[in-house]
Amino acid sequence: MNIFIAGGSGAIGRQLVPMLVQAGHRVVAMTRSQEGAVLLDAMGALPVVGNVFDKEGLARMVEQAKPDIVIHQLTAFGAKDADPLAETIRVRTEGTRNLIAAAEKSTASRFITQSISFICTPVKSGLTDESTPLYLDAPLAIQPLAHAVAEMETRTVHCNGLEGIVLRYGWFYGPGTNYDPSDAIPLAIKKGRMPIVGGGDGIYSFVHVHDAAVATMKALTHGEPGIYNIVDDAPAKLSEWLPFVANLLDAPAPAHMDEALAREKLGDMLVYIFNEQSGASNLKAKKALSWAPAPSSWRAGFKSLYASVDAKPAPNK
Ligand SMILES: NC(=O)c1ccc[n+]([C@@H]2O[C@H](COP(=O)([O-])OP(=O)(O)OC[C@H]3O[C@@H](n4cnc5c(N)ncnc54)[C@H](OP(=O)(O)O)[C@@H]3O)[C@@H](O)[C@H]2O)c1
Repeated sequence: MNIFIAGGSGAIGRQLVPMLVQAGHRVVAMTRSQEGAVLLDAMGALPVVGNVFDKEGLARMVEQAKPDIVIHQLTAFGAKDADPLAETIRVRTEGTRNLIAAAEKSTASRFITQSISFICTPVKSGLTDESTPLYLDAPLAIQPLAHAVAEMETRTVHCNGLEGIVLRYGWFYGPGTNYDPSDAIPLAIKKGRMPIVGGGDGIYSFVHVHDAAVATMKALTHGEPGIYNIVDDAPAKLSEWLPFVANLLDAPAPAHMDEALAREKLGDMLVYIFNEQSGASNLKAKKALSWAPAPSSWRAGFKSLYASVDAKPAPNK
């Protein structure tokens, strides 16, 4: 198939593009930079340089690619010259509008969008599923993200003449993510700067970034238009996974922080993530996309990710 991917140089894109190429697809991949183009070329894609905010230029690029499928893997959490959250919100609203408009005018018949599983209204017990409402009435610090996700998902599912598929990935971990051994989260854990807030009751649904790419491959040909949670089988509270990972990293046991203090020092967004979010069910994706998470649990995934760290001399283990 002919595939146009926006975001092929990002954390998931770097896993997905080689898989697409390996499977024999012709992959046209957009990046904003020459460095990105070199990376995409090395992965076997045909790079095009452009910006999702350039509506006309984008439409020309998508049209020229003659795609069967357009894949939206855009975020801007790695932005260095802009606020990452604000820029990601812009990418998910204005960027999504532009990319869908381009796809609708092109030869494409399917549009696949990256979303997140962890912005649903928290449930009192159990897991969220694809029918759980997004957290639109969240505290003010969280609302703009929830509303941007809602707009992006609604536009995807209702795009004209295209099958719109939304993949709500869980928390990415693995190489090239912020859980990479040399990246921000392990470094914060090693420095004792990632506390258990309140009871640490925020339930994380993780997904290995390679596995998220495998699920995306399935979504090329499987699944009715709609929303799918792409998460592992083992939702876990912060109070469960953080000490486990700290141990793997030979880091100090995580400190505890009172919720009120955390609201003041870390803000409502992090209190939501650390102490309030619900985990997500993957039953729908397993059935409709014929996908099963591997590793099925973050425990095995983190053990393997931090194996080299684990192998260091560790007198306390
Ligand atoms: N579910 C999750 O947990 C989740 C989801 C997303 C990200 N993250 C984390 O966030 C961190 C950063 O993510 P990332 O490495 O994927 O980088 P990123 O900064 O989020 O960028 C992702 C992709 O979007 C593209 N992009 C961004 N703005 C664009 C624009 N205006 N026009 C065209 N393309 C644009 C980038 O292309 P170029 O830079 O090549 O132009 C890149 O390919 C990672 O640690 C990742 O794990 C987590």
